[in-house]
Amino acid sequence: MNDKPGQTFELTDSSAGRSASLPVRAGTIGPAGLDISHLQPELDVFTYDPGFGMTAATESRITYIDGDAGVLLYRGYPIEQLAEKSSFMEVTYLLLIGELPTAKQLAEFSGHIRYHTMINETLLRFFNGFHHNAHPMAMVSAVVASMSAFYHDTMDIHNPRHREIFAHRIIAKIPTIAAAAHKHSLGQPFIYPRNDLDYAANLLNMLFAVPCEPYKVDPIAAKALDLLFVLHADHEQNASTSTVRLAGSTGANPYAAISAGVSALWGPAHGGANEAVLSMLEQIGTVDNIPKYLAMAKDKTSHFRLMGFGHRVYKNFDPRAKIIREMTHKVLAALGRDDNPLLELALRLEEIALKDEYFISRKLYPNVDFYSGVIYSAIGIPRSMFTVMFAVARTVGWVAHWQEMISDPHMRIGRPRQLYTGAPRRDYIPVSKRT
Ligand code: ACO
Repeated sequence: MNDKPGQTFELTDSSAGRSASLPVRAGTIGPAGLDISHLQPELDVFTYDPGFGMTAATESRITYIDGDAGVLLYRGYPIEQLAEKSSFMEVTYLLLIGELPTAKQLAEFSGHIRYHTMINETLLRFFNGFHHNAHPMAMVSAVVASMSAFYHDTMDIHNPRHREIFAHRIIAKIPTIAAAAHKHSLGQPFIYPRNDLDYAANLLNMLFAVPCEPYKVDPIAAKALDLLFVLHADHEQNASTSTVRLAGSTGANPYAAISAGVSALWGPAHGGANEAVLSMLEQIGTVDNIPKYLAMAKDKTSHFRLMGFGHRVYKNFDPRAKIIREMTHKVLAALGRDDNPLLELALRLEEIALKDEYFISRKLYPNVDFYSGVIYSAIGIPRSMFTVMFAVARTVGWVAHWQEMISDPHMRIGRPRQLYTGAPRRDYIPVSKRT
């Protein structure tokens, strides 16, 4: 981050006769940031920004979004190019290391990930503590947090080699944990990882294979899942990534920080939207009902929102949604399921909403999760596992951001301020004297 030479903003408190000169910090691309880090000592005020809509809490080199133009870059590479030409393992390397790997580097890196896919048998037994209908996100969050008990004394966050092993371990084991949560829900035996399969195929095998008969992963499903993982791998300072950064900034064990990210992702305003979209489409049922549900989405007294629509940063098409919509047609056709009524309904809903003044004026477009559930369903993944799939992919982004933060010598604990609106100072009244 550089100062923009000569560019400053003057802020004056005329009543107190004080002023502060705020330097402007420039990134590589995108709008510059006003540095307010010395505002309070100079003017005795904080900034007030509910939901952090206007606040950059960090500088970062990992992912860039231009929400108005609908642009998403991982380490500078457009998501469209990565979706077409890359793979999840290569994107994982790119996000973690910062550059695309050579063939040798990619083979070595994939080898490291494969080496760590098994989880400790004791950890596997944790699942038995959950009722069969526990939500898989609750199980995944708890088991990931429990990994901090297995790797605590051996994890020095200031040791780069320890951080690297942590990165390989969690990225390798998160599919095993995800699949174990699913198997526990079904009451089926856990399936061990197969290191001869690639990342997505191994996960599908652990989800769907059973010990009593052979199972062959469908290459179309594996390719679709790999692509969905590429699209979900990182998205700069979203709610779950900021949660991982905040938890990690205290020096907490990184498995605990990742578990905090899983929990933050679960909400329907964030990663839980993929599950909510499918429930919503089923609730709408037929094209005839769309106007009724659109009216509900616009009604401020109703809690109903059009799930999979709107985004804090994108005020244009989410570029990932465009890719997924196109991919949905191809995947369903390849699987022989192109007469999918939910896809038809989703397409019609998008078409109608995008012509509606309410959605136009608020710049509400389909986001990444509007179509992803249709693909997950088509490849046999149950709805309760949709957000878990997102968590598997996003683990890479969380780890990349945690690494970036911890390796920064200027890292500080994350600690937002507040505008206090409670009672002013008052004296305690004994209970006998209270009326
Ligand atoms: N349906 C109906 N109205 C909406 C929707 C929606 N999906 N999204 C936003 N709006 C309206 C709001 O009511 C508000 O209207 P107002 O100006 O009249 O009050 C306006 O659009 C701005 O919305 P905010 O809530 O202020 O936008 P914010 O940036 O805080 O929220 C969010 C973004 C949470 C994504 C929101 O659009 C939403 O709830 N969408 C549905 C859930 C969803 O799909 N989440 C996934 C996001 S992508 C991801 O995290 C992977």
